[in-house]
Amino acid sequence: MSQENLHPTFDRILGRAEKEQLLQQNSKVIWMTGLSGSGKTTIAIALEQKLNEKGFLTQVLDGDNVRTGINNNLGFSVEDRTENIRRIAEVNKLFLHCGIITINCFVSPTIAIREQARAIIGASDFLEVFVNTPLEICEQRDVKGLYKKARAGEIKDFTGIDSPFEAPENPDIDVRTADISVDEAADQILQVILPQITRK
Ligand code: ADX
Repeated sequence: MSQENLHPTFDRILGRAEKEQLLQQNSKVIWMTGLSGSGKTTIAIALEQKLNEKGFLTQVLDGDNVRTGINNNLGFSVEDRTENIRRIAEVNKLFLHCGIITINCFVSPTIAIREQARAIIGASDFLEVFVNTPLEICEQRDVKGLYKKARAGEIKDFTGIDSPFEAPENPDIDVRTADISVDEAADQILQVILPQITRK
């Protein structure tokens, strides 16, 4: 049998356009970067709720569902963080081609790490959101008690303490959580993405 008969055109994997058509939305990658405890996941949950109420299909990806599963063999060295984000970006690409809007909540601490994600996903589908919360506030909140441990030297290479965080130089959205509520932060992102994910 010829290759053509094995894979006739009507039997190919459905493409992004067909899936976006089915879902009546344009897919997109929303990439939130910021310190641990900056509020990425909290804002993502509020944003997802708002999007779902408007009929959009979304997927939130964060440390809880990625570092406990597909990336449970990775730590926090530069190499492991780079591999963490590389795999996450590849997963994003799969969701993107399935027509789904992903909301990512990863520290992704360096410009190089985020550029790697942008390159894998494709610049035109990648929206960078800086969850811009000063270290002092993240440390004051210390929701998971990790800053205290990092200061005590019990956790090494902790972002913002003894491992760098490079703020985005030109993010698509700059969310200053010290000045606004979670609901306002989610609305700020929603306003920017709505025209991009809505089908004409
Ligand atoms: S990233 O740097 O590789 O992008 P990621 O977002 O997946 O990090 O994970 C960060 C989360 O892991 C933090 O919110 C925190 O709860 C936890 N964590 C544990 N150890 C560290 C560390 N050394 N640096 C930063 N976060 C850590």
